[in-house]
Amino acid sequence: MNITITELTPGFVGDVSGIDITQPLTGAQAAALEAGMDRYAVLVYHGQRFTDEQQMAFSQNFGALENTAGGNVTKAAERRLNPHMADVSNVGADQQPLGREDRRRLFNLGNQLWHSDSSFRAIPAKYSLLSARTVVSKGGNTEFADMRAAYDALDDATKAEIEDLVCEHSLIYSRGTLGFTELSDEEKKMFTPVRQRLVRTHPVTGRKSLYLSSHIGTIVGWPMPEARAFIRDLTEHATQPRFTYAHKWQQYDLVMWDNRTTMHRVRRFDESQVRDMRRTTVAGDSVTVEQLAA
Ligand code: OGA
Ligand code: MN
Repeated sequence: MNITITELTPGFVGDVSGIDITQPLTGAQAAALEAGMDRYAVLVYHGQRFTDEQQMAFSQNFGALENTAGGNVTKAAERRLNPHMADVSNVGADQQPLGREDRRRLFNLGNQLWHSDSSFRAIPAKYSLLSARTVVSKGGNTEFADMRAAYDALDDATKAEIEDLVCEHSLIYSRGTLGFTELSDEEKKMFTPVRQRLVRTHPVTGRKSLYLSSHIGTIVGWPMPEARAFIRDLTEHATQPRFTYAHKWQQYDLVMWDNRTTMHRVRRFDESQVRDMRRTTVAGDSVTVEQLAA
């Protein structure tokens, strides 16, 4: 079987065929997929009927897995999945949809805001891999925005202005935008803001991209309202339809994306239906900027 990548959106999204990613890969296959990720930024696979173990094994072809601790408000005893699987479903351990007022559900609604996964961690994520186990009949698309194309389209003055800017990212900010503000002292500590460059350079391609995320709460050295107004403006620019792709899920699709060069968000759906989505996250290998001492 030969791996074929068909372009879905020019230079941004590729559809992969000719490979069964539920089975161990050869080194050459893993390298071909990583090269595909560098060329595009989002790869789509269909008909990959993963177990959690197979999904974790496939993901580890691209680096170490992130532990989900520190990225949610789910208590250890409530967890449905392995600590290396992010549960982005709308169900609890009993496999039933979470109640309307359930704190875990309200927290997960933050995924409807444009973001880059784990930008709230000092060493942010490399790839995310999202597997659709149960899909809904309507809504629930995941949209992706190309932050390289968005950067390229900025005028030179804006590029110069943002080149060395540093932002503070935290789950407190993204959830705060939705009015989810009640956090325990332990959660506040867990969600302490981290610093990230606003302009990143991809380690392999050398392309620059805008490193935006709804986790951003301010720009270091700027008054907060001015920073937020500017970040909103950049986000509006970066998420114009010409930079985006919408994925309509089929059961057993896997979509993987490079968090260094993209943002994504999920769209609304009927939450009385089960939407079982499971994400593995490949950890990054370095900070984007020096952090404040703890
Ligand atoms: C994620 C995420 C979107 C979705 O897995 O990181 O934001 O479609 N999920 O559930
Ligand atoms: Mn996400």
